[in-house]
Amino acid sequence: MKITDTVKYIGVNDKNIDLFEGQYIVPNGMAYNSYVIIDAKIAVMDTVDINFTEEWLGNLENALDGRKPDYLVVQHMEPDHSANIDVFLKKYPEAVVVSSAIAFKIMNQFFGTDYAERRVVVNEGSTIDLGGRKLIFYTAPMVHWPEVIVTYDNKEKILFSADGFGKFGALDTDEDWACEARRYYFGIVGKYGVQTQALLKKAATLDIEKICPLHGPILTENLGYYIDLYNTWSSYGVESEGVVIAYTSVYGNTKKAVEILAQKLKENGCPKVAVNDLARCDMAEAVEDAFRYGKIVLATTTYNSDIFPFMRTFIDELKERGYKNRTIAFVENGSWAPTATTVMKRMLENSKNITYAENNVSIKSAVTDENIDQLDALAKELCK
Ligand code: FEO
Repeated sequence: MKITDTVKYIGVNDKNIDLFEGQYIVPNGMAYNSYVIIDAKIAVMDTVDINFTEEWLGNLENALDGRKPDYLVVQHMEPDHSANIDVFLKKYPEAVVVSSAIAFKIMNQFFGTDYAERRVVVNEGSTIDLGGRKLIFYTAPMVHWPEVIVTYDNKEKILFSADGFGKFGALDTDEDWACEARRYYFGIVGKYGVQTQALLKKAATLDIEKICPLHGPILTENLGYYIDLYNTWSSYGVESEGVVIAYTSVYGNTKKAVEILAQKLKENGCPKVAVNDLARCDMAEAVEDAFRYGKIVLATTTYNSDIFPFMRTFIDELKERGYKNRTIAFVENGSWAPTATTVMKRMLENSKNITYAENNVSIKSAVTDENIDQLDALAKELCK
């Protein structure tokens, strides 16, 4: 696939993967992107997952059209991109590796060598000259590992953005970008909003016409749309107006309260009500929704003097990613000593800029008329 006359795509689609990074379902597979920049000198941008060595080397051979690569630029050492470094260097003994100092340390851990005899160590603002263009490197620590660099091609005005602007889904999938890019961002990079903001600030100084990430489609048009979303996500801003309800229910009584609340929210004009049953939904979808909307209702039962396990996991996932700037309401259920609200609030006590709703709901076993009035008051409060 041609990106420009001098930049070619040599990545692969993984349609057999069960869980990306050992935890994320990817119903439409995953793409591991890699690129070749053809100039007086030739640079290969990253490798691909270990299961696609032959396919990737074949793509590379086709793109090289009989020439030999001079550089392998390693932007990120996570094995979905770095697994074939050693294979590449054995196949092309004259090529050198271009990467950050931390990346070479990690290479030593993965491959037993830091390629001291054939490497170029780059840092913020370092360049290599390919003849008709320069590649300029910028550090992007923790987006999403510490060694990450991104690369700017000053001829084609392409930003090679590593995991930034990545997305779940193979490239032969026709699907909405934001949905799977948001789940990817909050799942994988979400903890590092500050670091992503720092990368966006560097990108803002560049004249970018295309973004080539390590996962997901190459972005060639309307780049402001993608950059604005990344800015919202990494600054923990509210992307969409609405309320998300995340719940667990053992015998259906908490679920009944959630259904009543969802209905009342709609009746009160809430533009969007997203409901996630934490025991049954994809946890990464629930996490992405929590960061997408500005208001959340957490509904769960008291369980072993604590809260139901899926809710505990969910709140831990939010805390791990620095959940903040949101309005939170609680619905608790307990048959003899309901304490779930107290437990949930305690779990969130270090989250910043949280507004707690005044009208929380406490159920004892089954929803009563009094609870329905409480749900009504909560719906009105959240829709004010
Ligand atoms: Fe796609 Fe962080 O590796």
